[in-house]
Amino acid sequence: MSKAEANMRQAHDVAMEFYHHLLMNTEDGEEALQYLLNRGFTQELIESQKIGWALPSWDSLTTFLERKEFSLEEMAQCGLVIQRESDGSYFDRFRGRIMFPIRDDNGKVIAFSGRILNTDAEEAKYMNSPESPIFHKSEVLYNLDRARATIRKTRQVVLMEGFVDVLAATNAGVTNAVATMGTSLTPQHIQRLKRLVEQITVCYDGDSAGMEGARRSAQLLKAERLKVEVAVLPDKLDPDDYIRAYGTEAFKTQIIDKPHAYIAFMMMYARRNKNFQFENDVLQYVQEVLEELVGVSSPIERDLYITQLANETSISQEAIYAQYRKLEATKS
Ligand code: CTP
Ligand code: MN
Ligand code: MN
Ligand code: MN
Ligand code: MN
Repeated sequence: MSKAEANMRQAHDVAMEFYHHLLMNTEDGEEALQYLLNRGFTQELIESQKIGWALPSWDSLTTFLERKEFSLEEMAQCGLVIQRESDGSYFDRFRGRIMFPIRDDNGKVIAFSGRILNTDAEEAKYMNSPESPIFHKSEVLYNLDRARATIRKTRQVVLMEGFVDVLAATNAGVTNAVATMGTSLTPQHIQRLKRLVEQITVCYDGDSAGMEGARRSAQLLKAERLKVEVAVLPDKLDPDDYIRAYGTEAFKTQIIDKPHAYIAFMMMYARRNKNFQFENDVLQYVQEVLEELVGVSSPIERDLYITQLANETSISQEAIYAQYRKLEATKS
């Protein structure tokens, strides 16, 4: 590791302590702390994650880092501060945000995600550290450092959309959850997961963006020959919302332990926004499901889903099989 990278890592460590202190011990941090407690974050979780508060000031971290003799040029390279074009001076990137440290696989903080308190404001809800010599967004799986032990033991990982959801799940005792950092699932993420497990449970938000994301991630994982299941949340809730509404037991027994098989999820997804009173919707539905079934190698599984398709659409199994074989021929 270069000297500059070592400095950047050390600065992140120092900044984490700085933000955490402001949240826990100062009047300026009271509102943010109360917000977290109201959201169901426990004192213990806040401490163990070293969650913090960035003051709504232009120079509080900048001044602090300068006093600790960090090079502000390096601090700008790793995204803690930003350089002004006008006069070359520096200012704090994160202002008035709850600070969530993002750790690498060895548990060292390499970036932050900052959340505003009031989502009515015009700013983005979350601001993440930029890509830097120490933070590669397309590779980071949030919480992997702490989840790895359980993942190895259970041979299972739960993939979530939001890192706050991972924290809520961890709090609920689901300790094998990870999340991407505001990017969609990349080939690098998938390779990293593949080295750890054969089985992945995708548990994205229950809103339409989450469902679409789950479909996309599930297809990518399946294409890499991982065993994929999809845990679906009701009423547009995300894992954190669900846990707050129905509790940790329900989350485990009703959601995490009752995922949909890959094809069952795809069928459910394909049925969305379709009205089977319209022929076109029925035909499109059958076609979409058959496209997925071509990848299913087990004849028994295939038969199960084709029977289901026939029952749902009142098209004969023979006709569906004929269509299936046509599709299979074009794909092989
Ligand atoms: N995200 C982001 N920037 C945004 C909005 C979202 O990077 N402006 C990323 C974050 O990693 C976030 C994830 O996308 O965790 C999912 O977004 P969303 O569901 O909107 O956020 P939640 O995780 O549900 O956050 P909260 O419960 O605090 O609203
Ligand atoms: Mn690097
Ligand atoms: Mn969302
Ligand atoms: Mn969400
Ligand atoms: Mn949420």
